[in-house]
Amino acid sequence: MTILDIQGVSKSFGGIKALSNVSFTVDEGSIFGLMGANGAGKTTLFGVIAGQIKPNTGSVAFRKQVITGKRPDQICRIGISRTFQIVRPFAGISVLDNVIVSALYGAAANNTHAEAREAGLAALEAVGLADAASQMAGELTLSGQKRLEIARALATGAELVLLDEVMAGLTPTEIERMVETLSELRHSRNLTFMLVEHVMGALMQLSDRILALDHGVPIAIGTPTEIAENEEVLKVYFG
Ligand SMILES: Nc1ncnc2c1ncn2[C@@H]1O[C@H](COP(=O)(O)OP(=O)(O)O)[C@@H](O)[C@H]1O
Ligand SMILES: [Mg+2]
Repeated sequence: MTILDIQGVSKSFGGIKALSNVSFTVDEGSIFGLMGANGAGKTTLFGVIAGQIKPNTGSVAFRKQVITGKRPDQICRIGISRTFQIVRPFAGISVLDNVIVSALYGAAANNTHAEAREAGLAALEAVGLADAASQMAGELTLSGQKRLEIARALATGAELVLLDEVMAGLTPTEIERMVETLSELRHSRNLTFMLVEHVMGALMQLSDRILALDHGVPIAIGTPTEIAENEEVLKVYFG
């Protein structure tokens, strides 16, 4: 079943066409990868889906409900949450308090502090950060901060989670663990992920389908194998 339906989305910043007529659907329970060089429009697309950026044309529908034009907090409560490429936790409060804030903000009906705390602890557990709960968020390693970003997205109760370069800057071992965490999460929490990643091995391994963007233009969509063999993709990536 389709969870996300993007039709004809375009977005310009001044003279730059960040997205040109982008259309695709994402199946519930799948991992959908986005690839493209720096400036291809990947983060802009996440911004459009999560409501931070208004597209010039086109529509975004989540479970058949059109969400284009809704505010980020409304979209979050409907069930979509994203991480940011540049991690931005509340550095001066604990790891646990960070996820409690997200749980209070999000889609799940965590009305009381106790419920939010429980949802927050479960999210930390899910990403392997339970032991760091009482640490200040600013004291985490980069890998820890990336995991906290994911935990914050999970704590909102989101069903669709957009992950923006959560493996960037990690060591090969940390990347391997992150791949394991994401494939576990997908099944244990029945989540749908969209993944922006320059770590090609991880993107290919995790994704069911991949959309390749070149300067905002969709050039190919398909399984990892199809993308790896696509002539347009090979031309853009390897000249
Ligand atoms: N807020 C903005 N204002 C102006 N230009 C922007 C803004 N956000 C993105 N862009 C431009 O849009 C293009 C796509 O950017 P982005 O979506 O961040 O690409 P990616 O995430 O694929 O690297 C780039 O040329 C970038 O400079
Ligand atoms: Mg980006």
